[in-house]
Amino acid sequence: MIKRAATPSAPASLLASAVTRSFTSGSITTRVLGGVDLAVQPGEMTLIVGPSGSGKSTLLAVMSGLLRPDGGTVHALGCDLWNQPLEAIDRFRLEHCGFVFQGFNLFPALTAAEQVVLPLQYTGLSIGAARTRAEEALAAVGLRDKAALYPLALSGGEKQRVAVARAIAKNPQLLFADEPTSALDKENGANVARLLHAIAHAQGATVLCVSHDPRLIAHADRVVRIEDGVLTSDERNAAVTNPDPLVVPELT
Ligand SMILES: Nc1ncnc2c1ncn2[C@@H]1O[C@H](COP(=O)(O)OP(=O)(O)OP(=O)(O)O)[C@@H](O)[C@H]1O
Ligand SMILES: [Mg+2]
Repeated sequence: MIKRAATPSAPASLLASAVTRSFTSGSITTRVLGGVDLAVQPGEMTLIVGPSGSGKSTLLAVMSGLLRPDGGTVHALGCDLWNQPLEAIDRFRLEHCGFVFQGFNLFPALTAAEQVVLPLQYTGLSIGAARTRAEEALAAVGLRDKAALYPLALSGGEKQRVAVARAIAKNPQLLFADEPTSALDKENGANVARLLHAIAHAQGATVLCVSHDPRLIAHADRVVRIEDGVLTSDERNAAVTNPDPLVVPELT
């Protein structure tokens, strides 16, 4: 029996209904998502936890337009995500979604500022506007003074904050994070977790994070547990420990 979270006040910005997904390897087909129903609200950080192989990354990929489900639907910002041509899904991700992954995914030959500017230019912003946005985003994650540094000169925690700056610079309504803290030590992990929480609360963004790192639980507004591709609990976290968020992001 799934423990249900208290009824939220805001309508869902992300809604998975009866989502299924299997992978086939040779003659063996494994069902990884067994009919997932999940409504995610804006303005809060929702964390999906569960053991390795339970389907967390697969669920995040299906809900963010990266991986097509076999069955069920995903509504994102009111649009039936998978019931559209691929180009429209790509455009939806570009316009509305930010992503943060475990491995930072920074380009070695670009400075922190350039890492943030580059994807902004794909959204059609002029170089001047993109630079201003990048400065704001780096300041929001506390890296104003490191904008000119290359990844080699940044610590793991700083690299992940650059990745967060890159994800939030376009002010996305949906922010997806897959294991954002697992390459970080305790303190940097907590900083990034606080930052994700602050982004949800300060910008009203929908932050959906998946992780097997239990340290993230204290920073999430809501914790959903998945086991063997099935949601097994769903609880609100009344006392989020979020003292002293790094910087409250103020992006225009
Ligand atoms: N592209 C793929 N091809 C085949 N099997 C896959 C593929 N992607 C995931 N799987 C399988 O689906 C299952 C769930 O994988 P998933 O990555 O969603 O788990 P996870 O909960 O994110 O695990 P972890 O905590 O280790 O990241 C695993 O058994 C995995 O091997
Ligand atoms: Mg995973």
